[in-house]
Amino acid sequence: MSSLSQRVLSGMRPTGQLHLGHLHGVLKNWIKLQHEYECYFFVADWHALTTEYDNTKIIAQSVWDMVVDWLAVGINSGEATLFIQSQVQEHAELHLLLSMSTPLSWLERIPSYKDQQQKLQNKDLSTYGFLGYPLLQSADILIYKAGLIPVGEDQVAHVEFTREIARRFNHIYGREADFEQKAKDAIRKMGKKNAKLYKELRKRHQEKGDTEALKTAQALLDEQHNISLGDKKRLFGYLEGKSKTILPEPEALLTETAKMPGIDGQKMSKSYKNTIALRESPASIEQKIRTMPTDTARVRRTDPGDPKKCPVWPFHEIYSTDELKTWVQNGCRNAEIGCIDCKQPIIESILTELAPIQERIKTYIEEPETVRRILIEGAEKARVTSRATLEEVRQVMGLTYR
Ligand code: TRP
Ligand code: SF4
Repeated sequence: MSSLSQRVLSGMRPTGQLHLGHLHGVLKNWIKLQHEYECYFFVADWHALTTEYDNTKIIAQSVWDMVVDWLAVGINSGEATLFIQSQVQEHAELHLLLSMSTPLSWLERIPSYKDQQQKLQNKDLSTYGFLGYPLLQSADILIYKAGLIPVGEDQVAHVEFTREIARRFNHIYGREADFEQKAKDAIRKMGKKNAKLYKELRKRHQEKGDTEALKTAQALLDEQHNISLGDKKRLFGYLEGKSKTILPEPEALLTETAKMPGIDGQKMSKSYKNTIALRESPASIEQKIRTMPTDTARVRRTDPGDPKKCPVWPFHEIYSTDELKTWVQNGCRNAEIGCIDCKQPIIESILTELAPIQERIKTYIEEPETVRRILIEGAEKARVTSRATLEEVRQVMGLTYR
């Protein structure tokens, strides 16, 4: 896709205190990304309202707990922009504007819409807000023109939907009356050699669907410094069709980090009550790991087992050295170690991992002003970027009254 933007954006609904599943599944990845890209990470409190509209009291505390946990694990407000969604109202305006051209059927066919309604049957989710959940998410993404969206598998459909929304928007509003002529003029401004190359690559892409040619052409445009940003955008748009790209299509960045199972072997999730919280006390951690189920074949200490069938093994995959893993493999299969022996190093690894995090959590709880300031400054920064996009959107939609 257009390589204009290497901005990263992700949001998390405020579900309160975080657990090891968040740390290993999401946050470690965010920490890495914040060093490599311009990152925006935000608390999706409006998204929380789509399901918690009748229970809003829990949202505020959840927001604080979550942000404290983010900071404590190393999400750095000096590197990434951290903010609360509802403090950047521009998201809401873009949501409204996008809603005008969003077909209802697109929203209705997103899998999470029916799935969640089924799952949360004790709640009336036949609401306008809930149906619009993915479109609000699209607004979150598009208002920053973010290119990369780190998400879990369950959110890929929402990023895909966002691409469709962007494409439709660009198609409807990205057409200038004299687009074709302007694009041709812009090509000429690149100089003879580049103009020729661009035209060839565009032809190959449009006539033969050659995606390599598309990528090469995009790279060529990235290197052009003699043409204006407006012309550059036109040429990105002209490559793919006949419209200007106003809202670039984002891509999902599937998290590669290890999957952290819960203490029962299912996915770690609050709703399964199988989590280890980042704030869990050492005694409770020890207790939870010690009572974890193991391979059911190991009834007695002398029965051999198979780590592949044991919920404890994935923890070794995350925490243990190769040497330790070999010890587990052999010891388990030959009944040379007991399950308690096997679990002990995991308990120690988790305690070692969480000790400094819990220290920092304590510090941030004692300094709520610091956390508040970080979020205020984050929202201010986010607003600068989102206003610029909104300004452009209003303009192409004809909402300028000057
Ligand atoms: N829907 C996401 C989730 O439940 C949270 C979210 C809201 C989000 N807006 C976003 C994620 C924008 C990525 C980008 O996890
Ligand atoms: Fe699981 Fe370890 Fe017991 Fe084997 S020895 S069953 S891997 S806890």
